[in-house]
Amino acid sequence: MSTTVQLGYLISACLFILGLKRLSKPRTAVQGNMMGSAGMLVAVVVTLLGFDLVNLPVIAAGIAVGAAVGVLLATRVAMTGMPQLVALFNGFGGLASLLVGAATLHLELGNDTLVSTDLATGGLTVAIGAITFTGSVVAFTKLQEIFNGSAASAAVLRAGNVVLVAGAVVLMVLLVLSPSSMWLWLLALVALAAGVTLVWPIGGADMPVVIALLNSMSGLAASTTGFVLGNSLLIIAGALVGASGLILTFIMCRAMNRTLGNVLFGSIDASGVTADADSVYEGKITSSSADEVALLLDTAEKVAIIPGYGMAVAQAQHAVRDLTRVLEDRGSEVVFAIHPVAGRMPGHMNVLLAEAEIPYDQLKEMDHVNPTFSQVDLAIVLGANDVVNPEARENPDSPIAGMPIIDVDKARTVVVIKRSLSPGFAGIPNPLFALDNTLMLFGDGRTAVEEISSAMAEL
Ligand code: TAP
Repeated sequence: MSTTVQLGYLISACLFILGLKRLSKPRTAVQGNMMGSAGMLVAVVVTLLGFDLVNLPVIAAGIAVGAAVGVLLATRVAMTGMPQLVALFNGFGGLASLLVGAATLHLELGNDTLVSTDLATGGLTVAIGAITFTGSVVAFTKLQEIFNGSAASAAVLRAGNVVLVAGAVVLMVLLVLSPSSMWLWLLALVALAAGVTLVWPIGGADMPVVIALLNSMSGLAASTTGFVLGNSLLIIAGALVGASGLILTFIMCRAMNRTLGNVLFGSIDASGVTADADSVYEGKITSSSADEVALLLDTAEKVAIIPGYGMAVAQAQHAVRDLTRVLEDRGSEVVFAIHPVAGRMPGHMNVLLAEAEIPYDQLKEMDHVNPTFSQVDLAIVLGANDVVNPEARENPDSPIAGMPIIDVDKARTVVVIKRSLSPGFAGIPNPLFALDNTLMLFGDGRTAVEEISSAMAEL
């Protein structure tokens, strides 16, 4: 590798690392994205110019087709379809590693210079790439609600999974001990099947965690491909993706108070609930109206809005922005309390509120906002449920015991906007709805917020 190429790769690696650093804050995220893209451009240009590539027109055609599909997908996908898009991108990454790893190893088998470590890295690349590819395709179909496995098939698939993973390990050992194309392609087939059996039994609502994990695996596969090709930049970039994906996976698990094993091989178990919905709610629910909430807001100095999955379903973010402006014009202070796993994907609420142009500094993280709830006059819970369920704090037998929550129940008055008393993702009742200081405003999130704004205009 020439010095120019090495220098180009060093610049790319620096741009990737600095870009990642900037992605950690909303204010600098766009800049971080640009730096990462610039790093990738430098890497592609340096690789194209620095190596003796025989099939440049084919590569150029591939880049053109890939870029066209990428632009089309990225510009046409709805915000709610983002997890599916990320799943597909991870899958393509895994497929690329699988093809490059398998082709390189296939060509070099029989070559005397091939040593055990080359075979082991090549085998790992093929196995991880294959699992990432089919696992991501299954995650995509689940999120798109094309397929959903039944509980019976889940049990069979989990058993099959153990057999396939054990089979893949045996094939890897055979590939290293007695190198042959047969072991290589068998390994690819078994790993492709393992990707399906691993992801298929996992519930659709746990898919965001799985996607973060698959993202990490696609990075790992890219990194091992770097070893196969002897490409230092691929090793670095893959390791960065692998590590950041894994960190995100664990952040999400911690915020749900679940282990990765529980997400992959179990599910939230609602059987630990101590009380049923009737005994929690009966005779204790106070319904409200948009007019009554407007009157409360009229005298509230400090208002906290807690968005959840229902805000995304109702697409209420623009209506919320309008209400926020009305309140601020009247002199109220408005903050948004954001739970790390509110909604169904990392940063779900931040993305929706940013789309509605709500300033970042109004978005407060859970740990920052929780100590302030005793000074909040009115907390509006908009389509959130599990992330404000005091059971997590108070009932050690609850399936969500220990999950950090937003302490809305400590506000002077709480208004919960949702369509019914139905549970959230965890499937358990929420005693918050039955508290003396809670008012329920039943209805679609967007319609309810619009009605509150209209009622305020008439005060
Ligand atoms: P949830 O607990 O899922 O509750 C959402 C609530 O929104 C439901 O109770 C539903 O009640 C209401 N809703 C639905 N459509 C609505 C509409 N059109 N208008 C108004 N309300 C509507 O949501 P959450 O509090 O955001 O908690 C997220 C949950 O997902 C957590 O348990 C978390 O662990 C899990 N999870 C999150 C992630 C990430 S990364 N965010 C990943 C996997 C799992 P009604 O049907 O009565 O309206």
